[in-house]
Amino acid sequence: MSEPNSVPWWRDAVIYQVYPRSFADGDGDGMGDLPGITARLPHLAALGVDAVWLSPVYPSPQKDAGYDVADYRGIEAMFGTLDDFGRLSERAHELGLRVVMDLVPNHTSADHAWFRAALAAGPGSPERARYLFRAGDGDAPPNSWRSVFGGPAWTRVEDGSWYLHLFDSSQPDLDWTNPEVVAEFEDVLRFWLDRGVDGFRIDVAHGLVKAEGLPEWDHDQALLNGSAATGERPPMWDQEGVHEVYRGWRRVLDAYPGDRMLVAEAWVTPPERLARYLRSDEMHQAFNFDYLRAPWRATELRAVITSTLAAHETVGAPATWVLSNHDVVRHASRLGYPAGQEPTSGVGPDDPQPDAELGLRRARAATTFMLALPGGAYVYQGEELGLPEVTTLPAEVRQDPSFARTNGEDTGRDGCRVPIPWEGGEPSYGFGPGPASWLPQPELWGRLSVAAQTGVTGSTLELYRTLIALRRELHLGRGTLRWDEIDGGDVLAYTSADVLVVANLGPDPVAVPAGATLLVASGDLDAGRVPTDTAAWFRLP
Ligand code: GLC
Repeated sequence: MSEPNSVPWWRDAVIYQVYPRSFADGDGDGMGDLPGITARLPHLAALGVDAVWLSPVYPSPQKDAGYDVADYRGIEAMFGTLDDFGRLSERAHELGLRVVMDLVPNHTSADHAWFRAALAAGPGSPERARYLFRAGDGDAPPNSWRSVFGGPAWTRVEDGSWYLHLFDSSQPDLDWTNPEVVAEFEDVLRFWLDRGVDGFRIDVAHGLVKAEGLPEWDHDQALLNGSAATGERPPMWDQEGVHEVYRGWRRVLDAYPGDRMLVAEAWVTPPERLARYLRSDEMHQAFNFDYLRAPWRATELRAVITSTLAAHETVGAPATWVLSNHDVVRHASRLGYPAGQEPTSGVGPDDPQPDAELGLRRARAATTFMLALPGGAYVYQGEELGLPEVTTLPAEVRQDPSFARTNGEDTGRDGCRVPIPWEGGEPSYGFGPGPASWLPQPELWGRLSVAAQTGVTGSTLELYRTLIALRRELHLGRGTLRWDEIDGGDVLAYTSADVLVVANLGPDPVAVPAGATLLVASGDLDAGRVPTDTAAWFRLP
């Protein structure tokens, strides 16, 4: 049910991702928690975002930082209680912020009651039929599929059978052809909808249904990528059956008032495949990872934006734009590499290091450019402070399962998950009442804290505040993009909602049309011209 005569909030929302382990620690144990988040919600209201998406806070052994859920209807004790969640949600709504939960339906934790029952019940039981248990091929696993985190995707249990896990062995995949699984998750959705949540981010949305018979796949599984280099679709990703699941979920959401929404984490290309998740009876939004992965070059970015908008238009869904999240190298560091060599994952102490100054300059320009694009936008906690990836974490503090499963070959994702700085000159920089934080914070955090940047002209935090406020005031998220030709160089320019947006990715400053007045820029202009690695918004005469 939509509110009458209104544009649903999510169509042009800026949604802020809170990574609960690392946002704010209320009790001083070094781990973020719900009371910590609630106390810091005014920061998000001041930033001007529309909604908060919480990465998983369910009971979990935290083998994959909460993406291993042991109980979908509760709150992990380390994060608080259901009452704490109620208080968070109430406070968020008071401040005008919506709340989006993270739902992890591809797999449960091995500690989930269902998986324990499956192990206890043995081969052929209905308990095992909720997961993907199979007989091996002699002593070998049932097929050669690989885990996204490295190593085989199968683990053998005592009685000799194997279970599938596309991620860590502590994350057994569910069998989505089993109606009991379907019914359970619809019920979980209702559990949280009844508690007032405004939407769900759907983890690995392209993975739930596997090709019948789990056929061999000899090509590179290309990690999470739904489309192989060969042009064939891997049997574990983007299968037709997932869409039936989302049609069911849409029916569940549509029975609730207030524009509840679903956003897909689906690593599929090309955008026409992604748009299939956004048909009018499926999800509302999907993350645009093609955009996140595009190199810092005008031609590629323009091509991604154009194909994104075209594909979304065919289904009437808004595009989304995103530059950082808890799985990829923060864009203030990613963009600190030469164009075309930006790493999305795994930068460690032994790898070539980013140029921090260049990275931040480009990141500010990239965000300025992004926040005027029509559709929804996603912001990852700490990017509003210009936080870089922490590339120097020592091996002994790393917790990402992909680090252990690859013997350290994959550095993992801990570098973008370091607890964020709020104030003060020493650890934990206001993250919690004490000095502790579950990953060590670099010294630089003192200068980048919220307090250090608040009210400081030109700070990244004030840039974000200005951009988000203007975006709202000028309804930029609801605009229609028209490309402009400004210069023959490496320049991107478009007009949307009567605002001219220019990003200069080339070496020389570019001039803008006479009479255009500056609204906001990611850096200082050069005698009215937009310098290299800078983006700006102008009002047209
Ligand atoms: C998604 C999450 C990631 C997690 C994985 C398995 O990609 O974003 O953090 O490790 O799914 O649940």
